Amino acid sequence: YGTQTVNEKGHLVIGGVDAVDIAHVYGTPVVVYDTKLFRKRAADFRQSFEKNGMKAQVAYASKAFSSIAIYELAAEEGLSLDVVSGGELFTAVKADFPRERIHFHGNNKSYMELNYAFDENIGCIVVDNFLELSMVKEIALTRKQNMNILLRVTPGIEAHTHEFITTGQEDSKFGFDLKNGQADEAFELAHDVPYLQLLGLHCHIGSQIFEADAFNHAAETLMEKMQVWKESHSFICTVLNLGGGFGIRYTEEDEPLEPSQYVEEMGKVVFDLAKRWNYPLPEIWIEPGRSLVGDAGTTLYTAGSEKEVPGVRTYVAVDGGMSDNIRPALYDAKYTAAIANKMLSPRDTTITIAGKCCESGDKLIVDAVVASVSEGDLVAIFCTGAYTYSMAGNYNRLPRPAVIFAEDGDHQLVIRRETYEDITRLDLSLHQKVRKES
Ligand code: LLP
Repeated sequence: YGTQTVNEKGHLVIGGVDAVDIAHVYGTPVVVYDTKLFRKRAADFRQSFEKNGMKAQVAYASKAFSSIAIYELAAEEGLSLDVVSGGELFTAVKADFPRERIHFHGNNKSYMELNYAFDENIGCIVVDNFLELSMVKEIALTRKQNMNILLRVTPGIEAHTHEFITTGQEDSKFGFDLKNGQADEAFELAHDVPYLQLLGLHCHIGSQIFEADAFNHAAETLMEKMQVWKESHSFICTVLNLGGGFGIRYTEEDEPLEPSQYVEEMGKVVFDLAKRWNYPLPEIWIEPGRSLVGDAGTTLYTAGSEKEVPGVRTYVAVDGGMSDNIRPALYDAKYTAAIANKMLSPRDTTITIAGKCCESGDKLIVDAVVASVSEGDLVAIFCTGAYTYSMAGNYNRLPRPAVIFAEDGDHQLVIRRETYEDITRLDLSLHQKVRKES
């Protein structure tokens, strides 16, 4: 499990900090990030480009986990940042993230959000559709302000992953279709507009992908289109953005490649095609989210009630659930668990780890094999760093957990635990008779 270890007390240790101490100090549920692992993953991606002599930007796809502290860490590690909303951009501004390394994504950016991106003079807007293209043009011309853009295209590649998280196939809400002329039309509209610098193309073919081939194929498809525009308009794209989606190991069945393997292969495809077509080697940009934060995060829960269904299973409920990790309920996602205060005890018990939300489907792991567990034990679920806190909600009015960073035996709070006051902060009483937002 990443850089986690076990100490002489038989306790799980994350980032050099005893998980039991973390639970005592911050309470549970709590999400703990081993920030050294994040730094390592970031360096692996960056260095594999450098090693191969390729110019690149590695943007952290922050939808996986967005907070001021993780943005500060990403900046420290030389990453760029992919944001997908005014809210994520605002968070990046609060973290004082270098604006020139912020890339703005999304399939329905509002006029206000686009103007905000111009206000902050960010590095690049990834234009998704015709409405957005016309808004970006109008804003740039009105403000007489330069803006870099990429065109997001749909390359028609079906990577083998969950239906709800594939985005590169043809029937997709994202991007300009490559095959039916939409991308060409967008190119015509975008390539010689004053103030707009069209840097190149973007695609994102899906998430939790294991096969390097899918990325290679995407690289090839986009390079082919770039070559067409070179021939027809002598237009050279300087950036090829291949998105994110690099898979990670949630359970033993998952067999991802190392970051460097994906990068080397896609780099080779781009390099070879550029050579064959005498195309100036474009910069490669990628946007890993899950593979930067996924296995760096562990959620610690406290075990509570237990119910045995004789001959079927035993449920052990924890003090969180689908409100802080909706992935099992939404995608049937699989995780691995351990009893963090009994790491040296034999794993001889099969339990179903249930959440505390009022839904039968709120089960975090079905048939987890763990040490014998009783009320008060600390249940660790691994690999919860991506798309858990960022997708968390207040269903049943459960407060969202605290988030902490741990590194080299030191720990610090980076998101406070929500309080009941936080949960009711926006509520108004009937007696207040408010008729309009102020
Ligand atoms: N770039 C773009 C344009 C994306 O849409 C995404 C993810 C990424 C990068 C980062 O992908 P990653 O490296 O994290 O796989 N909620 C789902 C995942 C949705 C992914 C959406 N887009 C889940 O929990 O599995």
